[in-house]
Amino acid sequence: MTPSITEKNNSHKRVKDTQLIFWVGLIVVSVIGFLFYFYIPPATDIGAAQPIAFSHRVHAGIKDIQCQFCHSYVDRSIHPGIPPVEKCLYCHKYIIANHPEIQKEHMYFNTGTPTPWKKVFYLPEHVFFNHQRHIKKEIACGECHGPIETMDRLKGESFKMGFCITCHKAKKANLDCWLACHN
Ligand code: HEC
Ligand code: HEC
Ligand code: HEC
Ligand code: HEC
Repeated sequence: MTPSITEKNNSHKRVKDTQLIFWVGLIVVSVIGFLFYFYIPPATDIGAAQPIAFSHRVHAGIKDIQCQFCHSYVDRSIHPGIPPVEKCLYCHKYIIANHPEIQKEHMYFNTGTPTPWKKVFYLPEHVFFNHQRHIKKEIACGECHGPIETMDRLKGESFKMGFCITCHKAKKANLDCWLACHN
């Protein structure tokens, strides 16, 4: 028996309905997936992308380059400083010179543009912090910054006052923070 016209229409409609459900479902799943990865990145320990894909793990970890080779002013000034691109090229003129990330170094160097590194460790504006005082007391970088030599991209943190106070109490350092650290 041949199917009546209404039956034919119905089966047609059922096919369309399942297709519709399929596509709506796919969109909903993709949107949820996107939002999930956008707001909860799979590797939460990775910091913001930097203009050059520089890795502390490779340099300070595997290649064991001393922190102070690059952050030369850490025991001499208030600001340890981020190395200028000249310092990178000191090695990379010869090492993996044609790597696309190293080409970026040349671009910054040739155009005289300071590399726009993103800052990752923060202190509130009005807090005074001096590296020199702390390095002189032989406090390791890692006590405040964590195991930098294991990180590809630094995650950083925003230091809170409790962090300073806890150690100052333990090491019997100045607790008169209102005078010493706030200006
Ligand atoms: C003392 C030498 C030295 C200095 C200074 C140096 N690097 Fe390197 N860099 C290396 C070595 C060694 C490697 C590993 C090369 C290899 O994998 O063959 C490397 C690898 C790299 C890589 C590739 C990383 C990867 O994922 O494989 C990048 C990008 C890089 N360096 C960027 C920089 C930048 C930016 C600076 C300056 C802030 C810098 N380097 C300073 C020695 C140096
Ligand atoms: C080869 C050069 C090099 C070496 C060696 C190196 N750094 Fe760095 N460091 C950089 C560069 C370039 C940046 C800026 C890019 C970034 O944040 O990854 C940086 C950023 C940082 C910052 C973050 C500053 C901010 O933006 O708030 C800290 C903290 C730091 N380094 C600590 C260390 C410590 C601790 C070591 C040793 C274990 C070390 N670095 C070794 C080149 C170096
Ligand atoms: C007692 C805690 C402490 C120790 C120890 C310490 N740091 Fe820091 N570091 C800080 C704080 C706090 C900041 C943020 C300062 C700011 O925003 O002005 C910072 C910022 C930095 C920066 C970013 C500088 C900038 O100009 O933006 C670098 C690079 C750095 N530290 C490297 C080092 C290195 C290398 C060592 C070890 C030789 C070290 N630090 C040891 C607390 C510390
Ligand atoms: C891991 C331990 C440690 C941490 C963390 C630490 N400090 Fe200190 N700090 C010390 C020690 C030890 C001294 C004493 C240095 C000296 O006697 O020269 C000191 C000294 C100082 C001084 C000089 C005080 C004076 O006598 O004039 C200031 C300012 C200071 N710290 C600010 C800070 C701030 C701000 C923070 C938080 C961002 C901080 N410190 C975090 C150990 C620490």
